[in-house]
Amino acid sequence: MESSAIPPSGARSPGLSYQQLLDGDTRPVPDVLRWQSAAEVPVQKVPIERYRSRAFYDLEVERLWRRVWQMACREEELPEVGDHVVYEIADDSLLVVRTAPGEIRAFHNACLHRGRLLRECDGRADELRCPFHGWTWNLDGTLKHVPARWDFPHVDDDRYRLPEAKVGTWGGFVFVNLDPDCAPLADHLGELPRHFERWPLADRYKEVHVAKVLPCNWKVAQEAFMEAYHVVATHPQLLPGIGDANSQYDVWGNFSRAITANMTPSPHLSWAPSEQDMLDSMLTRSLDAEPALRVPEGMTARQTLAMVARMQLQGAAPSANDLTDAELADSFYYTLFPNFHPWGAYNRIVYRFRPYRNDPDRSIMEVIYLAPFRGRRPKPAPVHWLAENEDWTHAPELGFLARVFNQDTFNLGKVQRGLHAARHSHVTFARYQETKIRHFHTLLGRWIQK
Ligand code: FES
Ligand SMILES: [Fe+2]
Repeated sequence: MESSAIPPSGARSPGLSYQQLLDGDTRPVPDVLRWQSAAEVPVQKVPIERYRSRAFYDLEVERLWRRVWQMACREEELPEVGDHVVYEIADDSLLVVRTAPGEIRAFHNACLHRGRLLRECDGRADELRCPFHGWTWNLDGTLKHVPARWDFPHVDDDRYRLPEAKVGTWGGFVFVNLDPDCAPLADHLGELPRHFERWPLADRYKEVHVAKVLPCNWKVAQEAFMEAYHVVATHPQLLPGIGDANSQYDVWGNFSRAITANMTPSPHLSWAPSEQDMLDSMLTRSLDAEPALRVPEGMTARQTLAMVARMQLQGAAPSANDLTDAELADSFYYTLFPNFHPWGAYNRIVYRFRPYRNDPDRSIMEVIYLAPFRGRRPKPAPVHWLAENEDWTHAPELGFLARVFNQDTFNLGKVQRGLHAARHSHVTFARYQETKIRHFHTLLGRWIQK
């Protein structure tokens, strides 16, 4: 791993750097938290057309979505042979099917007779039968039955197998790629699996899955979750207990990582919060309520939060006792190009962002919580789709973060409106704190030019 001082320009916020904060941990710090790779990312300005033009959107479909590895579902959603999940991206639809105990395939979800979608929703079946005229395929994609077969002398079984996309798995996730000539998933992931060795995502279950359509381009949506620069204006209530401007940003190959420390004060504050203030800011208590958790004498807020999390993880996470305060208190938000955002350590969050109905001005945001478990694997949560007029608090399973997500998404439709209204040509990114977004756009530019 490349290691270099952050950031490349040397300019940084006052206050403790993340690496300095780690020096005070109550446990030995694992290498993964020490790795830094603050590579130069060339893109600092991006044409607004990337967010609003149909022509650019169409290029994304052709050159990105039809070629890149993308997360389709969890393996745990396909426990039995015949289980299937419909995965849609732009106009494409795939049927991701468990075809044998150790095998998952992805078929293009269109009947080879007159093209009906074979399935509109997830489920379990012994065969894939089209509801229109009854053409039927075996789970392995071979043609099984054509009603009035005498009328189709020109249909030979070999040429009427269901066309397939490529499938790969990592961390309990199923990835698909529509390009038959794509490189293996492992090449796309690069070093990412090494980062997650200490936090095996395959050993977790999908505890929560909430989806919502947002009135903005899919990149506007995901970029709101790739930096801590927005905290000062968007989540001011968090400032006593979040080291927003002292976050660390790194990039490796096709993925990037931000680390934002919690239970340390923001450098934007002009006053010094107490340890209890820091804890309260995260637990968002109202002024007249008793604290949900008190910082014991002689302990810091950071140690208190870590101690509680460590106790909760006993028996569900491998060696919970050895986990650092950092792994239990901080936010490690990874982005695997183009749209998959698994959080590291023991924060449960995974985000996915996609275009909605082929519309450059709308997107789907999904929040998944992956939780450790004891004993038998619990059933994965089905997708809870929020209606257009429902905000994130209509999904109580999201807990206190629902209100934070409301703050996050409040601006996004207005960003899209502003981008259409703009007479200037480019958006401008910060040199350091928007490193992840610049890295994303650097990669996107390469894909679009291919
Ligand atoms: S369209 Fe599927 S059987 Fe006719
Ligand atoms: Fe946010």
